[in-house]
Amino acid sequence: MKQTTFALKGTICYSQSQNQIGVYPDSYLVCENGLCAGIFSELPEAYHGIPVRDTEDSLIIPGLTDLHIHAPQYSFRSVGMDMELLQWLDNIAFPEEAKFSDLEYARKSYSIFVNDVKRSATTRLSAFGTLHVKATELLMDLMEETGLKAYIGKVNMDRNGPDILQEKSARDSALDTIAWIEEVQDKYKNVRPILTPRFTPSCTDELMKELGRIQKQYHLPVQSHLSENLSEISWVKELCPNTAFYGEAYDQFGLFGGEGCPTIMAHCVHCPDEELALIKKRGVYIAHCSQSNTNLASGIAPVRRYLEAGVKIGLGSDIAGGFSVSMLRVMADSIQTSKLYWRLKDNAAKPLTLEEVFYMATVGGGSFFGKVGSFEKGYEFDAVILSDRNLPYPQEFTPLQRLERLVYLSDDRNITGKYVAGTRIF
Ligand code: GUN
Ligand code: FE
Repeated sequence: MKQTTFALKGTICYSQSQNQIGVYPDSYLVCENGLCAGIFSELPEAYHGIPVRDTEDSLIIPGLTDLHIHAPQYSFRSVGMDMELLQWLDNIAFPEEAKFSDLEYARKSYSIFVNDVKRSATTRLSAFGTLHVKATELLMDLMEETGLKAYIGKVNMDRNGPDILQEKSARDSALDTIAWIEEVQDKYKNVRPILTPRFTPSCTDELMKELGRIQKQYHLPVQSHLSENLSEISWVKELCPNTAFYGEAYDQFGLFGGEGCPTIMAHCVHCPDEELALIKKRGVYIAHCSQSNTNLASGIAPVRRYLEAGVKIGLGSDIAGGFSVSMLRVMADSIQTSKLYWRLKDNAAKPLTLEEVFYMATVGGGSFFGKVGSFEKGYEFDAVILSDRNLPYPQEFTPLQRLERLVYLSDDRNITGKYVAGTRIF
């Protein structure tokens, strides 16, 4: 790998705590060997002569992490938005995912996906593929080429699906998973496998047991769905009468965080207190997917409660429950739904602030990938350049007001540069 030192010049903004965005106008952000080396108002002598990309007073922010996204669902996003989760899965998502048994179809669909996510402000993502090993490997190949860093999961599902999208048995699912892991685990620089039991209604106990074993053997992280929708939660109660709450359905098989098992659980809209306590105890990441929760009428996750409880939390687009791959849009949506929650549900749950959603979209979710999502020294150099030249204004705006506009107006045309671990994407 070529090791280089360079700087970006502009107005640099990054989270210094959940409640504070540090702002450095007209400054240099130096990258050394893929890592952040510091922010300077004047380049120190040691850096004189390094290449400088002058962004002409654009904002420079850490790359955004999409902690939950379904790659195969991208090309039908915004279609079929009038159903709740279980009906939507049966009628829209499952029939579409079944098409990925055809590699040519998968190539068409995944090429559209990776192209668009490459252009977005997302630098890191944790994605579901489908149950198909070959199509998931193809997705990993295509994602590797973008330069973005991603966890990608071959989905496991051996019950309650249609015949066209269901693995024949727990054993077949486990064997496919092992073959897939063996094939991909050392193949890529940017892409890593993640174990992906779709959700409890899709996975028999036998399959979960196998996945627990595979997790221990291969030390893979885990991603799934949790407490998204009320009908789903009732169904899980019926399917797992031995559990006190949904999270236990994963935890009983060692698939719910804890030492050596980094885990992302998407949604967490309706978690009882005991579930939240276990999430916290096991260090499980919550992927808050506000837009999806609105589209599928799942509800509004009590994010204020999660922030106050000090649990790990990032944001997800949940394409195609969500229709927008833009994490800027996802940030804006998270603020908006938190206001509805405050007004309609709990007047003690103050709405989320720009600082808080910025935190969750950068270092909150980024930390799942290591030292990611900040410009503190030693963090991986993931940076996005945001220009508001296309959004002219006659008055004076502070840098944070400019950032707020760029978040709410969330338009890819304002994203003029992106770096991942020091590599320039565009
Ligand atoms: N639960 C199980 N599968 C899915 C899915 O594809 N999308 C969402 N939003 N929830 C799920
Ligand atoms: Fe999802």
